Amino acid sequence: TRTPVVLGVESSCDETGFGIVSEGTLLGQGLASSASQHAEFGGVVPEIAARAHLDAAVPILQIALHDAGVELGDITHVAATSGPGLATAVHVGLAAAKSVAWALDVPLFGVHHLAGHAAADTLEHGPLPERSIVLIVSGGHTSILAIGDLVRDPIEHLGDTLDDAAGEAFDKVARLLGLGYPGGPVISRAAVDGDPAAFRFPRAMMRSGDPAYTFSFSGLKTAVARTVETIERAGDPVPVADIAASFEQAVVDVLVAKAVRAVKDHGLDTLVIVGGVAANARLRAVAAERCEAEGIELRIPPPRLCTDNGAMIAAVGDLLVRADADPSGLGIAADPSAV
Ligand code: KG4
Ligand code: ZN
Repeated sequence: TRTPVVLGVESSCDETGFGIVSEGTLLGQGLASSASQHAEFGGVVPEIAARAHLDAAVPILQIALHDAGVELGDITHVAATSGPGLATAVHVGLAAAKSVAWALDVPLFGVHHLAGHAAADTLEHGPLPERSIVLIVSGGHTSILAIGDLVRDPIEHLGDTLDDAAGEAFDKVARLLGLGYPGGPVISRAAVDGDPAAFRFPRAMMRSGDPAYTFSFSGLKTAVARTVETIERAGDPVPVADIAASFEQAVVDVLVAKAVRAVKDHGLDTLVIVGGVAANARLRAVAAERCEAEGIELRIPPPRLCTDNGAMIAAVGDLLVRADADPSGLGIAADPSAV
């Protein structure tokens, strides 16, 4: 039998990703983003994202093959995000994956997008322990998950956000500070020169009676908006750096406190942080400090593997192949609202 060479396809949001993984090793990948096309709308427009996936699919697949130094015919298995995600966007990548699997006559696996995010870390730090806690923080998700082998064990949602995702909060606050889109990187940049203690913004869901792993960020966003309004009404200059730093600190405090608590409550010793917001330097620093103090092993993939990409989907496909899991088949339907 040939060594498996797994092609992963990701198209659930605004990134078109193809990645190629073989036996736990990332061989290469290609990635395109339609983020700039959504900038004027302050968030991802599904129809625009879907069309962008269609335009990008073949060229990005070619880039991934070139980067990996393999031919299309070397691919032994295909894995594609089946959900959760934007329906039309998921369909484009899944259709592309079906076409490739059919043309090559190789097995196709549907992959859960969140399993992909968790598996991204295996490409950098090797196999995950039997069980771990995953904090997934992106533009679409803010959840604490308990995960097992990513093949047979179901993903357990310990808690999610009641309203905005963490990345969405960054995007909305960036917009009201006039910093642009996507908000995460611009807020972090502005926050470097700010004082994170300048404003005491609310930390929601942190009281003793609150659900331990549930998040809420809409109140924080509103608090920032009120602060900006009050300063503007007084005719004073808005201290953008201080507000950005204080907002960032409030988000990070809550994320880290709840994730660390989940690890301890479940008697585990590994925390994995993934998703676009995991690129945030303050989050990485605060999590490192807290995990060190609690004796928790912290695993965060490099930023390029934190955001949506095809390599993470290939990584799950590779785990499925090596676990001898049954392929999904070409008839697999997209499951955009998968939990
Ligand atoms: O995982 P991702 O690329 O896409 C999904 O939403 O699935 O995450 C994108 C999100 C955006 O909301 C963006 O503002 C946020 O990740 N982000 C950051 C940073 N870089 C990206 N948030 C905070 N700090 C960053 N450095
Ligand atoms: Zn994602």
